Amino acid sequence: MSYMAQRVAGFGTTIFTEMTALANEHQAINLGQGFPDFAAPDFMKDAAIAAIEADINQYAPANGRPRLRQAIAQKVQDFYAVEANPDTEITVLHGATEAIFATILGLVNPGDEVIVFEPFYDSYVPAIQMAGGIPRFYTLRPPNWQIDAGELAMLFNNKTKLIIVNTPHNPTGKVFTEIELGLIANLCQQHDVLAMTDEVYEHLVFDEQQHQTLISLPGMAARTIMISSLGKTFSVTGWKIGWTVAPPELTHAIFRAHQFMTFCGAAPLQEAAVTAVSQPPSFYHELTEFYTSKRNFLLDALKSVGLRPIAPHGTYFIMVDISHLGFANDVAFCRYLTSKIGVAAIPPSAFYHNPTDGAGLARFAFCKEEKTLAAAANRLQRLKTG
Ligand SMILES: Cc1ncc(COP(=O)(O)O)c(C=O)c1O
Repeated sequence: MSYMAQRVAGFGTTIFTEMTALANEHQAINLGQGFPDFAAPDFMKDAAIAAIEADINQYAPANGRPRLRQAIAQKVQDFYAVEANPDTEITVLHGATEAIFATILGLVNPGDEVIVFEPFYDSYVPAIQMAGGIPRFYTLRPPNWQIDAGELAMLFNNKTKLIIVNTPHNPTGKVFTEIELGLIANLCQQHDVLAMTDEVYEHLVFDEQQHQTLISLPGMAARTIMISSLGKTFSVTGWKIGWTVAPPELTHAIFRAHQFMTFCGAAPLQEAAVTAVSQPPSFYHELTEFYTSKRNFLLDALKSVGLRPIAPHGTYFIMVDISHLGFANDVAFCRYLTSKIGVAAIPPSAFYHNPTDGAGLARFAFCKEEKTLAAAANRLQRLKTG
């Protein structure tokens, strides 16, 4: 008899663990998992060292250090004109991942339906299932990943409690348009549904696109939980500092779950995070330029070997159409690419409830040093000769 609880028995190992192990075995360049392979900004490291030396080493308040909550309130005001009370509407959690979990555990009852756009970030569905909720899927289709108003409306009913909106969207790179967000806002209000927005890529947006947030749309402040974190913007995915912005009643529910999950995150890193979220606009301009050039480099490299990348508007991922290459599916392609070509990518079928929907795609990450991307581009040339 297995000792494993039924609630986790169906989850399996994440595709990241499997592909990272394969990449290590073949010493492949890992463009699979989405973490930067370059240093975090010095101002972050200095702030963390200073916080530890100042002996900020004991538990933080369960909803986060006050200075950080104030800095987050200021940031959402500056960027999105969102008014948030740092004491009653902001909670600091252990990365966006815990924010997602605490939100779902705090708000979703057994039998409640939760609408999820797929391909999805892989923690949403397990979180919904652990809460006893039922995921309902809207499939975004390449190459435009657009939302059809009628198709989305059909997913809303009197059991729907929550919709999860991840924009900019991992893994497609889609940035939800104002029209799409307006449509979601109307449906949420018509059906009395809450919205959880995952905006961890809010500052990784390219070209003429602009990140818009659902919480600032008319009528949505009362029913939206806005989630973001430091990891992507400040290249510190290992710090695990995230937050929610939500009206007091929803914040209270999130807090109830959070207090018994982790109680609080790392206090000195929360203190250092104040420096991060208080960065001036120039930091974000430089970040956009930095990532635009990486995106363009990898797009060109992929195209030059006959692959068909779908240019992302946001995030640090590129989805590639591999359907014409003759592989059985995305897993077969990614295994071949990792073991024979020496470059690891992620098979996106893991991000669909029906894996065949992702069978013609592969996801590459470009949050890597120039030299890593150049070495990968070099190895990809081998694809030309088979
Ligand atoms: C869409 C999305 N949400 C949340 C996360 C997790 O964020 P954090 O590292 O802050 O927990 C990720 C990380 O890859 C992500 O891609």
